[in-house]
Amino acid sequence: MKGIKTKDLSFAYNDQNKIFIDTSFNLSFNEITFLNGANGSGKTTLCRILSGLEKNYTGSLIMNYLEMNTISFSERSKSIIYLKQEPQANVVATTPDEDLAIWQHGFDKDLDESSSILRERVMDKLKIKDLKDQPFWELSGGQIKRIGLAALLIHYDKYWILDEPISGLDTKLTDIFIEILEKRKLLGKGCLIISHKEEQFKNLIDKYYTIKDKSIEEILRNN
Ligand SMILES: Nc1ncnc2c1ncn2[C@@H]1O[C@H](COP(=O)(O)OP(=O)(O)OP(=O)(O)O)[C@@H](O)[C@H]1O
Ligand SMILES: [Mg+2]
Repeated sequence: MKGIKTKDLSFAYNDQNKIFIDTSFNLSFNEITFLNGANGSGKTTLCRILSGLEKNYTGSLIMNYLEMNTISFSERSKSIIYLKQEPQANVVATTPDEDLAIWQHGFDKDLDESSSILRERVMDKLKIKDLKDQPFWELSGGQIKRIGLAALLIHYDKYWILDEPISGLDTKLTDIFIEILEKRKLLGKGCLIISHKEEQFKNLIDKYYTIKDKSIEEILRNN
């Protein structure tokens, strides 16, 4: 099954700050996995490791049968997309429309030669059509968050690594996003959701993990 498997994974930013020690866990790309943990326990660090941004881990981290450190950036990006915790960190251009065009085509096409149909559709879904040509510095945090979610929709078929995807979203957008995850689940498309708001996702979750004592532990729920 496609996914990520770790065995005795350890990671430290430096000797004084070990984040994970010999932890082993699996993520299936067909399942919805939920992960929580205290502030500073290493959730964002885990996302960075899983998406190939932190390479100095020890132990093994296998994605789709290959060791993560041997997979090129472009190869990794065919399978996963990582939505960062801070909305601004996902921004790569000046306006939402330009930004989504880069998420769609990379940097090799100008806006006017890129196809706008998909972008129009995802912006409509996430209620950001009116913002499409507004510079990011004029947008609120929640509005920028929605544009990050729109980038996910452009990469609908990939495995989504979601660091606090609903923090800062209003109720209406949270409901729309949960509905999107429900539809994807029916199609067998999974994701990793990092959040402090387990209740919001409870009807979707296949597997629960928590970070405890520098290790990622499965929690069994009776539902
Ligand atoms: N680039 C870095 N260099 C050194 N230490 C770092 C770096 N990034 C994070 N840390 C430290 O690693 C630990 C884990 O941070 P991380 O951001 O992964 O936590 P988190 O669980 O995502 O927290 P939060 O719930 O606040 O988002 C913290 O002690 C943090 O100070
Ligand atoms: Mg974090």
